Amino acid sequence: MDKFVINGGNKLYGEVSISGAKNAAVAIIPAVVLADEPCVIENLPKIKDVAVILAILKHMGAKVTKIDGDDSRVEIDPRGITSYKVTCEKLVGDMRASYYLLGALLGKFGKALVPFSGGCSFCERPIDLHLKAFETLGAECNILPTQIELTSDKLEGKPIYFDVVSVGATMNAMLAAVKTPGRTVIDRAAKEPHIVDLANFLNSMGANIKGAGTDVIKIRGVEYLHSCTYSIIPDQIEAGTYMAAVAAAGGNVLIKDVIPEHLVSITTKLRDTGTVVEEYDEAIRVIRENDLKSCNVKTMPHPGFPTDMQPQFVALLSTANGRSRVMECVWESRFSYLPQLRKMGADIIDNGNTAYIYGKQYLNGAKVRALDLRAGAAMVIAGLAAKGITEISDIKYIERGYEKIIDKLTAIGADIRRVTYLESLDDEI
Ligand code: EPZ
Repeated sequence: MDKFVINGGNKLYGEVSISGAKNAAVAIIPAVVLADEPCVIENLPKIKDVAVILAILKHMGAKVTKIDGDDSRVEIDPRGITSYKVTCEKLVGDMRASYYLLGALLGKFGKALVPFSGGCSFCERPIDLHLKAFETLGAECNILPTQIELTSDKLEGKPIYFDVVSVGATMNAMLAAVKTPGRTVIDRAAKEPHIVDLANFLNSMGANIKGAGTDVIKIRGVEYLHSCTYSIIPDQIEAGTYMAAVAAAGGNVLIKDVIPEHLVSITTKLRDTGTVVEEYDEAIRVIRENDLKSCNVKTMPHPGFPTDMQPQFVALLSTANGRSRVMECVWESRFSYLPQLRKMGADIIDNGNTAYIYGKQYLNGAKVRALDLRAGAAMVIAGLAAKGITEISDIKYIERGYEKIIDKLTAIGADIRRVTYLESLDDEI
């Protein structure tokens, strides 16, 4: 029941370091199930989703050891996982990415029994494409009342075509195919940086995956995956969120430990708002001194503008001069947080998958809710830029994906605190 309390208006100055990518980590950890030897994973973000997926693997029989007591470096020995059944329903239901256990267990045992996954539910999140990919490889999929069951007599590499570009289905198809005999070709694959990271991790264990990062991924099944040490890429969306925060609040911040090439779509749109973005080898400097200009944004699969940055940009554009248009083209609906921004005075009209934002000179602090991870990040950004106090409840969503967000923002000059329920004035949100 804790909340974030932000006293808005401070400009942001200094340096912030970006953690490992959440959406890579939550796929790479289940991928270790496929390994035949222990693996060391480095640069893990210290966030709730990573803790949960590690706890699930432990429950399944893996040995998970922190290296030098550091949560961001763990050795995972999967050799104790001897069953295709996952029984820790509560943990699996705590996060979306637990569905990667389906592909990993199918690839390892030829069958899987996994409870339904949970996580951020800003709209319906189907998994029909994941199941279609498993079926193409020879599995039978049964939706039971609380679990998904996959069975197979024999799996065989095959061509898989996705009619919708899906990150999760591409990753799950890769996991299922990596040890499946024969050649699997995934056509219309997703191209996000975390897809490439998963392929690089699997290849560093001896997998044979080519083409990750393009529309076509070719996988030749291998029998054995050996140990490796692998460092996860920086989080594109965490970096983008800090970039948007600096642009919204104003100031000059060096954002370190990033891959600037992964941020091009975000950098381009920020420049459209008049924000200065300087790119270095592994860092980005964001400077915002003048008024923000409006701009139009359309979310698309990578290399387009990421849907996971859409709410943060709507918050940012709420104080830009003029009218901005933001179109959500990845998810059927991802604007349910708009009423929260309107409580802060934002002038936004939404119609289907499009939001029209009429920029105000400033937003006012208010009591708002974090409805999901990225909507919560948008509330933080709005609160940093607003006049007065913003109280954000349901911060569990924010903390599942942003490592030490309070410490990182405080270090660059934000006035943000985490308070317990009793300290906040009331709960009438
Ligand atoms: C991943 O979700 C991310 N989650 C999401 O980030 C992100 O928004 C999304 O990719 C798009 O980039 C993780 O990586 C854990 P999709 P995923 O399958 O894989 C449709 C965050 O905030 N679709 O690429 O579940 C679907 O409805 C989270 O970090 C089907 O129709 O997304 C959507 O319109 C939120 N059938 C589109 O594809 C399917 O079987 C893209 O979804 C699967 C998806």
